[in-house]
Amino acid sequence: MPKEAVQRPDLGGPFPDHIAIIMDGNGRWAQERNMRRVFGHREGIASVREITTECARMGVKSLTLYAFSVENWKRPSVEVRYLMRLLRRYLIDERDTLMDNDVRLLGIGRLDDLPEGALRELRRTEAITAGNRGMLLRLALSYGSRTELADGLRALVRDAKAGLVDPGDVNEETLRRYLYDPETPDPDLMIRTAGEMRLSNFLLWQASYSELFVANVCWPEFRKPQLMEALEAYAHRERKYGGLIQDHANEQTA
Ligand code: FPP
Repeated sequence: MPKEAVQRPDLGGPFPDHIAIIMDGNGRWAQERNMRRVFGHREGIASVREITTECARMGVKSLTLYAFSVENWKRPSVEVRYLMRLLRRYLIDERDTLMDNDVRLLGIGRLDDLPEGALRELRRTEAITAGNRGMLLRLALSYGSRTELADGLRALVRDAKAGLVDPGDVNEETLRRYLYDPETPDPDLMIRTAGEMRLSNFLLWQASYSELFVANVCWPEFRKPQLMEALEAYAHRERKYGGLIQDHANEQTA
């Protein structure tokens, strides 16, 4: 349990168990202030801390943050190096906050692509927080949804060739078992900052029925008030999963 008791706000409707966030606009935030782009990433860490802590205190079960995509390796090497240093520092500095809030950390993505120091600290933080029973914080690192599906499919085909899977039995659940983290249920709410209306190769399989919320502020400005706005919007959404909402279904059959 977090040191402060979990307090779920009553927003007059459902509350998401799993929130996924595309943290966009760090570079723009910095450039608008005549600062180098990397300062936006540094400032973004403060938002990561605030949003993680607030979600844990409100009883969100899982939070997935898109911290570095497979495509991000194409950025200038100075920026990539800065981001990897920032990640390593974050993984060391945030341990106390994660422990205080009973948060368990898990990396998802092609983690072996990470520089040795960052990967080592990721594994350490995962191990240190492994016993926590509050929120799961998943950091998507060197993550891409198409890569995840290709990696999963390769493993599935390998297992089929070895006779461990019958190709005739492959269904959605079989494929899910080959994703990076099959245990965590799909996100209920997907938030993107900086006004962009794209999924950018993030959780394409898992977000099939996620509710989308786009915030106009850049990630360094996305704090508790903006999170509450997203939660409020979610509380008033009707999730139909391609079916009908119950009242309408009753009307149709009456
Ligand atoms: C998008 O902003 C953000 C990223 C590529 C990385 C997100 C990283 C952080 C928030 C900091 C590191 C996080 C952790 C957990 C260590 P952008 O640079 O694409 O913004 P722009 O679209 O304005 O250029």
